[in-house]
Amino acid sequence: MAREKEITSVLNERRLFKPKKEFSKAAHLSSLEAYKRLYRKAEKDPEAFWAGLAKELSWFKPWKKVLEWKPPFAKWFVGGKINIAYNCLDRHLEGWRKNKAAIIWEGEPGDSRVLTYQDLHREVSKFANVLKGQGVVKGDRVAIYMPMIPELAIAMLACARIGATHSIIFGGFSATALRDRINDAEARLVVTADGGYRKGEVVTLKEKVDEALKETPGVQRVVVVRRTNTPVEMQADRDFWWHDLMKTASDQCSAEALDSEHPLFILYTSGTTGKPKGIVHTTAGYLLGTTVTARWIFDLKETDTYWCTADIGWVTGHSYVIYGILSNGVTTVMYEGAPTYPQPDRIWEIIDKYKVNILYTAPTAIRALIKMGEEWPKRHDLSSLRLLGTVGEPINPEAWMWYHQVIGKGRSPIVDTWWQTETGAIMITPLPGAIPTKPGSATLPFPGIAADVVNREGESVPANVGGYLVIKRPWPSMLRTVWKDPERYKKQYWSDIPGVYFTGDGARRDKDGYFWVMGRVDDVINVAGHRLGTMEIESALVSHSTVAEAAVVGRPDELKGTAISAFVTLELGNAPSDPLKEALRAHVVKEIGAIARPDDIRFTENLPKTRSGKIMRRLLRDIAAGRETIGDTTTLEDYTVLAKLRQEEE
Ligand code: WTA
Repeated sequence: MAREKEITSVLNERRLFKPKKEFSKAAHLSSLEAYKRLYRKAEKDPEAFWAGLAKELSWFKPWKKVLEWKPPFAKWFVGGKINIAYNCLDRHLEGWRKNKAAIIWEGEPGDSRVLTYQDLHREVSKFANVLKGQGVVKGDRVAIYMPMIPELAIAMLACARIGATHSIIFGGFSATALRDRINDAEARLVVTADGGYRKGEVVTLKEKVDEALKETPGVQRVVVVRRTNTPVEMQADRDFWWHDLMKTASDQCSAEALDSEHPLFILYTSGTTGKPKGIVHTTAGYLLGTTVTARWIFDLKETDTYWCTADIGWVTGHSYVIYGILSNGVTTVMYEGAPTYPQPDRIWEIIDKYKVNILYTAPTAIRALIKMGEEWPKRHDLSSLRLLGTVGEPINPEAWMWYHQVIGKGRSPIVDTWWQTETGAIMITPLPGAIPTKPGSATLPFPGIAADVVNREGESVPANVGGYLVIKRPWPSMLRTVWKDPERYKKQYWSDIPGVYFTGDGARRDKDGYFWVMGRVDDVINVAGHRLGTMEIESALVSHSTVAEAAVVGRPDELKGTAISAFVTLELGNAPSDPLKEALRAHVVKEIGAIARPDDIRFTENLPKTRSGKIMRRLLRDIAAGRETIGDTTTLEDYTVLAKLRQEEE
């Protein structure tokens, strides 16, 4: 971990935007005072605070104990029985909501489907029976590798309904990445599709599943949705069409009464050491966290049409396309394809078409849309929007201002929400009717969340001093462990700084207590809002026959936020060339997926290393960004390496 230096901040943003009176009046939380009162109440007795909110969920059996905390292992609502699919579906069927749109879906080619709560309940119950019919029982893992189509939502909710733990693998991942994740989770069934649409092209999925399944001994069944009509091979006794199985499935399937701590899902995220970590979330606490945050932060109203542009393959899609939104009985928009296809105004067109009220997206998407020019949003009526949100990386104040003025017309508050796969739900965020915003700051912690910025010893640092972002107490939606690796959970999150959860991010608080998140302090690169482990990309490069060694770093990029720069040392007998660069890029795409494609590759004879042999990525970051090396270089093994790298640059 790069901890040689204090983290310094260069951002000095002074603009302040107070919530508009009309917005505040109608909001769940309508003043800074109200927020502070609630925050204080939660601080006084966190367990009572969360328990009070948990009462609003539908329980099969009440809990006996709110929290059992054996650091760093937490159990919430111990002894309770609950089902998240029941909370997202069944309980809305009792009143008029049964015929309300649960999912409004738009396919990339322009097709569209609407599923009411009743429709979704029926499809989920049927698919739950399909899973049972294929031998899936409570506690089994099901891998889901799908495009953004309603069947993805149906599949995950069906798993939750019967207590199968889902592991959703983003559809952009390669067969190799899929294979590793399937094997780590020991999934016995895979749900996929023939393909999905992305930028007018078909992205094949079943084909990659076939490739992955050559080396996944545990998988017995594959269920395939027909989406693109792409020819696929169906292996007898293993592969079945979704529509065939659904034809005969009963729509009666009661939701299992699951233990509060029953594992709901595993979601893989990159770590510093390379091997992806299976982040485990359980049922009741996760449901509580996502439900309450969604309601207060997006200020959800019964009549809202809400759209989060994230893919369900990432945690944002889990928590804020599906679970936290449906549990509130709100209408969620789901879109299959690229936000700029077939034209750069697709996102604005969809907002206009469905009269979207709340838009939740990523800074990287905002930057891409800014680049397209203002004429695109101007072609559409965006007046339905009343609230905007961002997530995934720090948003630079310029992009924030554009979002505020061009999209929000200066009216809509922006909620810049900080959280992680590990936290399950949003942790630091404005509450839009209550907390004044500053462009680039995620503002204040959600009530009940004990966030702080500390030094290595775990002591709070003074205002405007950079430090490590930590959470000082367990919270209901926190990860419970790393799948099959509790030691790694302990070491990764609870060891570096004594007694607290370390987020891995650097941050500072200003004199108003506002948090300014500065990004990861370690080597994980955040590209286009997604966390990629440098080690994974390096390993992919090194697996190519010509490559001896590789180091990957992030470099600032106007559009993507961060671009991937790879430094590659070739094995003797191989000469650097442009075709080889192309081959290496293609190789990484094959190994990991297109999101990991290096933006630039530089060949070098040597990499800068410490005396103990560790690659000094910090120095490479400077070179990649074209900066002078200002940091400490005393541990550098061979100074001439740096000089050579810079020469090769010219
Ligand atoms: C970064 C995504 C600044 C941060 C939900 C975090 C942010 C990592 C913000 C988690 C934000 C996310 N401001 N940085 N509003 N939101 N991050 O697991 O570095 O994909 O640790 O979860 O993204 O990424 P993950």
